[in-house]
Amino acid sequence: MKHLVFFGAPGAGKGTQAKKLAEQFNLSHISTGDVLRNEIAGLTELGNLAKKYMDKGELVPDDVIIAMVEHIIEKLSDQQGFILDGFPRTIPQVEALDIMLDKHNRQITKVIFLDVPKQELVNRLSSRAEIEGRADDKDINIIENRINVYNQKTTPVLDFYSKQNKLVHINGIGTIDDIYNRILSVV
Ligand code: AP5
Ligand code: MG
Repeated sequence: MKHLVFFGAPGAGKGTQAKKLAEQFNLSHISTGDVLRNEIAGLTELGNLAKKYMDKGELVPDDVIIAMVEHIIEKLSDQQGFILDGFPRTIPQVEALDIMLDKHNRQITKVIFLDVPKQELVNRLSSRAEIEGRADDKDINIIENRINVYNQKTTPVLDFYSKQNKLVHINGIGTIDDIYNRILSVV
């Protein structure tokens, strides 16, 4: 069974590629960002709390995110594989994920790292602001902050999975189909 993590900076293409792969292999696509944006749209308590952080490009606190992901994973049927997109993003999240998967006799099989240089990230997110109107894409300072937060708090996660030999490095520059084919060749 496939239990994949799609990893990369904001704008690296995690959502775009995870959606395609999830459809082809019938995997659950678990995007923590999408779940949080749905909560915001639904004006829930979780949404109201998350919005304060997301609008600034800051991470939502670990305990909130971990409880949210655990709730989603618990509801999956035993045979259902998944792609995590945007989680885990900190070392406490990695550790919590390990514990929750252990409980369900699951393990992360591979971590797909989509590697994209900063200027391309900024270009993609600035263009997406025009198309999707995401609050955190509209302001260059928030985009920059998300990239800084990624560099400081999220990149240590790479080391953790690299030591477990689970990390696969993918060049994230090129057409969406080219990148998808690179991913297909490793999963
Ligand atoms: P999240 O929703 O995860 O956003 P993000 O990390 O900022 O990443 P993006 O969704 O912007 O980028 P992506 O890699 O999915 O790229 P995409 O495929 O869309 O998180 C948002 C916020 O929620 C966080 O800031 C935080 O506050 C909170 N949050 C979420 N998870 C959390 C967690 N675990 N812990 C704490 N807080 C959390 O592509 C980007 C654009 O580029 C699109 O327009 C796309 O069409 C285009 N594109 C894609 N591929 C290509 C290509 N090959 N060539 C040209 N354009 C391309
Ligand atoms: Mg995304």
